[in-house]
Amino acid sequence: MSVASAIVGWGTALPDTVVTNADLQARLDTSDEWIVERSGIRRRHIGSSVADLATEAARAALARHGVPASSIDLTIVATSTAEDVIPPAASVVQHRLGAGGGAVDVNGACAGFVPALVAAYGALALDAQRVLVVGADCMSRIVDPDDRSTAVLFADGAAAVLLQRTAGPAPAEGGPGLVSYDLGSDGDAHDLLYCRQGGPMVMNGRQVFRRAVRMTVDSATAALERAKLTIDDVALFVPHQANLRIIEAAGARLGIGPDRVAVVIAETGNTSAASVPLALAAALDAGRLRHGDLLLMTAVGAGMSWGSALVRWAS
Ligand code: UT7
Repeated sequence: MSVASAIVGWGTALPDTVVTNADLQARLDTSDEWIVERSGIRRRHIGSSVADLATEAARAALARHGVPASSIDLTIVATSTAEDVIPPAASVVQHRLGAGGGAVDVNGACAGFVPALVAAYGALALDAQRVLVVGADCMSRIVDPDDRSTAVLFADGAAAVLLQRTAGPAPAEGGPGLVSYDLGSDGDAHDLLYCRQGGPMVMNGRQVFRRAVRMTVDSATAALERAKLTIDDVALFVPHQANLRIIEAAGARLGIGPDRVAVVIAETGNTSAASVPLALAAALDAGRLRHGDLLLMTAVGAGMSWGSALVRWAS
């Protein structure tokens, strides 16, 4: 059972270099019109490293709440593009922050932030007081820059949240924290989106698109049903930012309007495990969540895997 907890800090990090659709149009057989119409992406950030971006985002999350890094019990970095196979990027982040406790990476591809978040809530339900969860990916490391079918979509970034146990009723009794979740994977679809050691990444875009819409809808619905709630109860839906058309199609099927959906893809592209926390952080900065609101996060990715987390917000 999950315990009362709150997301008390959040932070983001994007590389300085911005690549616009016009920049891509200048060197690839593509156009601004095609990219905007088919994906909703207008620009993306490229560069830096997973460890650097994850550290910057984590520092910002800690600074917002003003707690010492040494009080962290666990650091989880969701990533599939860390520079080193070992050690985990989380160990580098932990060292740079001076964080306490354990440090581990979670590779759940684009869906990775959600299982990392669920694991963090699990640690809080044991005896952890504070857990840092970072989604960080540098997709430019594994994408073929000359492959127009992927190079226009994927990009780099990181975002972090700091979770803390709080007093009060458990989420099951109406308190803040993880109300329900859904995790799943269909390894049958492993060859639709993959990257062997040394790359590049290969994607069957049309097949992934179809499954992504279905998985987003099914997973979000499963998490809501487990909590005996409906989409009407959700104040903010934060889906994975892979394609604006996927977000819109899933939103329409779920029955949630754009006013309750967080979207940053136009400015970030698909940042894989960073996409949900980047969209969440933008929504939080814009004051879109109030105390007691229900927040639904859903991500899908290579595997294919999916995950949803339904969280009651505390401010
Ligand atoms: O993060 C998790 C996983 N990733 C995703 O969820 C991505 C899922 N897939 C998608 O977002 C979309 O399938 C894409 C954006 C990748 C492609 O959009 P689409 O509407 O499914 O296009 P398509 O693959 O059916 O291709 C349509 C046409 C093709 O030409 P023909 O065969 O009709 O002559 C492609 O060769 O568009 C062509 N094309 C491009 N044209 C200009 C493919 N990429 C480009 C490009 N610029 N960048």
